[in-house]
Amino acid sequence: MTFEEGSGVVREAGALGRLRVEAEACTACRLADTRTKVVFGVGNPAAELLFVGEAPGRNEDQQGVPFVGAAGQLLDRLMADVGIDRDRSYIANVLKCRPPNNRDPLADEIEACKGYLRMQLELIDPKVVVTLGNFATKLLLKTESGITKVRGRSYPWWRGKLLIPTFHPAAALRSGDQVTNLMRADFELIRQALAANDEAYTAEEPNTVEQLGLFQT
Ligand code: URA
Repeated sequence: MTFEEGSGVVREAGALGRLRVEAEACTACRLADTRTKVVFGVGNPAAELLFVGEAPGRNEDQQGVPFVGAAGQLLDRLMADVGIDRDRSYIANVLKCRPPNNRDPLADEIEACKGYLRMQLELIDPKVVVTLGNFATKLLLKTESGITKVRGRSYPWWRGKLLIPTFHPAAALRSGDQVTNLMRADFELIRQALAANDEAYTAEEPNTVEQLGLFQT
């Protein structure tokens, strides 16, 4: 993802900008002690498409920008392959700070951080939310099922949005073409969801998820 201007992220105006400033000073969990930079998010503040990853890695922690490495390049390529305009998207993570040695996020860290993601979802108000990998999917879709089971379709979601789960791009980089091709199919679904009007989608399936709160934990 390359939404940065020069070496810094374009800082959002208004409420999203204020939320970024708040997050950058956050000390709500232990990750504040080990992070280099808070990785709040990057992209179009009025995006129709919001990607949610897991947590910053080493490069993201250094630069303060999500998905700056090979995983981000794969996201860019998949968007280009199916014709999704990257400028219509925003990317954030479940955790805004890097877990040491890229360990998995802990439950209390997700709990401490999820208010920022909730506010990002409210303020950006995308039409389509794409969860990348198990952590984001389990949190937002309120499921214990793994990504392999739930991917490949879209789910009517919170406040009339569609949620589309797919693999984490790092998993595709590890596993090779088969997973990348499944991701490409999911990205085609994303493109179709962006193209369709809201009624066509909400009429397709009963809205089971919207009855619940936003987060699983
Ligand atoms: N993996 C993630 O989940 N998020 C990032 O920002 C980078 C790698």
